[in-house]
Amino acid sequence: MTLLDIVTLPAAILRKKTRPVTTFDDELQTLIDNMIETMRDANGVGLAAPQINLPISLTVIEGLPKIDEDGNDIPDSRQLFVVVNPKIVWHSPETIDGIEGCLSIPGYLGEVERSEAIRIRAQNRQGKKVKMRLTGWTARIFQHEIDHLNGVLYIDKLTAPENFWTDEEFHKMREEEE
Ligand code: CO
Repeated sequence: MTLLDIVTLPAAILRKKTRPVTTFDDELQTLIDNMIETMRDANGVGLAAPQINLPISLTVIEGLPKIDEDGNDIPDSRQLFVVVNPKIVWHSPETIDGIEGCLSIPGYLGEVERSEAIRIRAQNRQGKKVKMRLTGWTARIFQHEIDHLNGVLYIDKLTAPENFWTDEEFHKMREEEE
């Protein structure tokens, strides 16, 4: 496996709309494996192809662990998604504000309003058509990653311009709240 370079702002590719993936060959499978490896190495929960300098409609997502009744992480409960050519076909009317960061905007966090649930149509890594319904944090990550495929970044959608912080400012603010 190969770790890929993650591009950061102001790279122009992050603002480009991607083209669909049409060939599901060995080369694509290798690329997907390398993207998964790169996402995990960077401690990310998602990585979209433009972030590794490829203008194609492909993202890998590995959601947060499931939580048990006592609020502890359930081991090995993270679910890996490989999502090709996704389209959001339904947004829940309910929305929720949450804090997001991005591997292409290192050192910053911001608050973004997202739909609480979505339905998508996409293809899996073999090109098979799939439908998914996603909720909560997983739905948030999917919305963030699918935005990347359209050249949209979370900083375009802040709940207010001032709701954007360096990691340091954010953690200081959280400590003061406690
Ligand atoms: Co991102």
